[in-house]
Amino acid sequence: MTEQRTAFPPLPSFVDQATISGMAAYDALCAEAARDYEGYWARLAREHIAWKQPFSRTLDEDDAPFYKWFGDGRLNVSYNCLDRHLIDGNADKTAIIFEADDGMSTHVSYRELHEKVCKFANGLKSRGIKKGDRVIIYMSMSVEGVAAMQACARIGATHSVVFGGFSAKSLQERIIDAGAVAVITADEQLRGGKRLPLKSIVDEALALGGCDSVKDVIVYRRTGGTIGFEAGRDLWLHELVASQPAKCEPEWVDAEHPLFILYTSGSTGTPKGVQHSSGGYLLWAALTMKWSFDIKPGDVYWCTADIGWVTGHSYIAYGPTAVGATQVVFEGIPTFPNAGRFWDTIARHKVSTFYTAPTAIRSLIKASDVDPKVHPKNYDLSSLRLLGTVGEPINPEAWMWYYTQVGGEKCPIVDTFWQTETGGHMITPLPGATPMVPGSCTLPLPGIMAAIVDEAGNELADGQGGMLVVKRPWPSMIRTIWNNPERFKASYFPAELGGNLYLAGDGAIRDEHSGYFTITGRIDDVLNVSGHRMGTMEIESALVANPLVAEAAVVGKPDATTGESICAFVVLKQATPSGEEARKIALELRDWVAKEIGPIAKPKEIRFGDNLPKTRSGKIMRRLLRVLAKGDPVTQDVSTLENPAILDQLSTPA
Ligand code: PRX
Repeated sequence: MTEQRTAFPPLPSFVDQATISGMAAYDALCAEAARDYEGYWARLAREHIAWKQPFSRTLDEDDAPFYKWFGDGRLNVSYNCLDRHLIDGNADKTAIIFEADDGMSTHVSYRELHEKVCKFANGLKSRGIKKGDRVIIYMSMSVEGVAAMQACARIGATHSVVFGGFSAKSLQERIIDAGAVAVITADEQLRGGKRLPLKSIVDEALALGGCDSVKDVIVYRRTGGTIGFEAGRDLWLHELVASQPAKCEPEWVDAEHPLFILYTSGSTGTPKGVQHSSGGYLLWAALTMKWSFDIKPGDVYWCTADIGWVTGHSYIAYGPTAVGATQVVFEGIPTFPNAGRFWDTIARHKVSTFYTAPTAIRSLIKASDVDPKVHPKNYDLSSLRLLGTVGEPINPEAWMWYYTQVGGEKCPIVDTFWQTETGGHMITPLPGATPMVPGSCTLPLPGIMAAIVDEAGNELADGQGGMLVVKRPWPSMIRTIWNNPERFKASYFPAELGGNLYLAGDGAIRDEHSGYFTITGRIDDVLNVSGHRMGTMEIESALVANPLVAEAAVVGKPDATTGESICAFVVLKQATPSGEEARKIALELRDWVAKEIGPIAKPKEIRFGDNLPKTRSGKIMRRLLRVLAKGDPVTQDVSTLENPAILDQLSTPA
């Protein structure tokens, strides 16, 4: 039995004007999709995308699971996101309000953004970059970052944005895997009043070797800080675009043309290059802006994600521009100059639609407990009309605080469940239809055939927890893993489930009464720290690459603020250290991981032992490590454990 929880009905004021108004409208769309799946998606794709050449075939399943959507249609994503608004008379509408780290803001209209993107695109073309080439974007949050993505889309180059917090080594791996011809970066980034390097990390990455495909490094001057410049390879963005024409004819591409590759962590091996299409992806980015966020012409929308993650792709670079919205693009961090920054920015720009991560909410709750001056009640948040969350489950307490203290009980909250691979929202309340239940992402969007199955792929009855799957392909789904179609099949359409169910990698349970989904967390070895996805294996590989380390195992530990934190169990080649020495080595290893992967992968806690708990066949017993990390007593059967004494030693941090 699942417990029945209090539901918050949608507010009548919202229902009246919502794009999907009331459950009957939601049910009607679901029924349409059930009746004629292809017809449903074809209708939406015709209504929401400007096609250069209309498609005649909606879904091609001949080479499943390598599905093709709108295959013979041709379009350009940047045309859809920019030119359309110029034609529709919205040229002077603000596209981006850039909120810099220091609190200064700049407004960029659709006309200006279009011109910036066209010049950028012409600049790329002048360097010989063309359709099908891969371009790495290693930038901070900026108008130029968004323009770089749109410029690639305009000429049909496939971009791969690498989050500015990743290390030189992570960047190098992605450059090599993508076979990138160029890297677009900035001299430095500004975050929380600090200057952080970008260009010098690109230099370091290229110096690591294997990156011969890279011919150009294009540098946006953000801070004016001193950087190295390699003649013939490096060029300033402002110089590149200075003499470029302000118009650039879009490159019309097939609907399946890869718009971007975005690397994300899996349970095994190196990060996977998730490949997305142009047509299907754009459709869902635009449509979910209208359905989940109920975006309206007068809205000021703000998504606090970074363009380095998928949320910054679908809900900053593409979704908002596709629907002609005005959005805030934020360079800084939530705690600078103080933890009231989000609320102050909402008040100053009259933000109506605010989308952030549960981690940020939890840390701001804590901050306002410590310093009441930064509590949202001190700011004028009356412009807000809708709130959203993404990236991890939101605990009901944080939901209630967001609802009452930020939204003043007048803003629906959309708890949007989705993934890098899904391209856009999958399961989320609709603000003008779905009664909300704190902590539940509620119901799949119309046309998304989500279900819960057991390990053999059998659908489970409501109330029983199992694995979340999607039964039918949908337009914005991952197309393949770049360079690795076999891994794509094995990861997402495993044979054990019959080979035709998309496996999300999350556990979920559906309520017996409401049919609502609640995500219970990853079922694989993927961690979610502050909404950032990381593979335990990646961190383990980084640790064992250190000359001091013999063996390492990494698990997630529940954390009240970050959702999960990283706990590493390490066996050194030398005798197991204790006291000061252990702390010193732990510090060294944490810095090592930051250098290997990036600061976000630093273990919060490191524990040393003479060995790891293993079965007689030598398999590390991770479930025991998870118990130890939590600090719980070991109550499980440890009879298969080869070395029970090790548990005591591993129960305390260094
Ligand atoms: O575990 C789920 C969690 O984040 C994972 C996807 O991570 P990533 O690909 O980095 O994309 C994050 C932004 C879409 C999922 O497999 N997740 C994401 N949103 C939610 C969530 N878990 C619970 N509730 C959510 N709303």
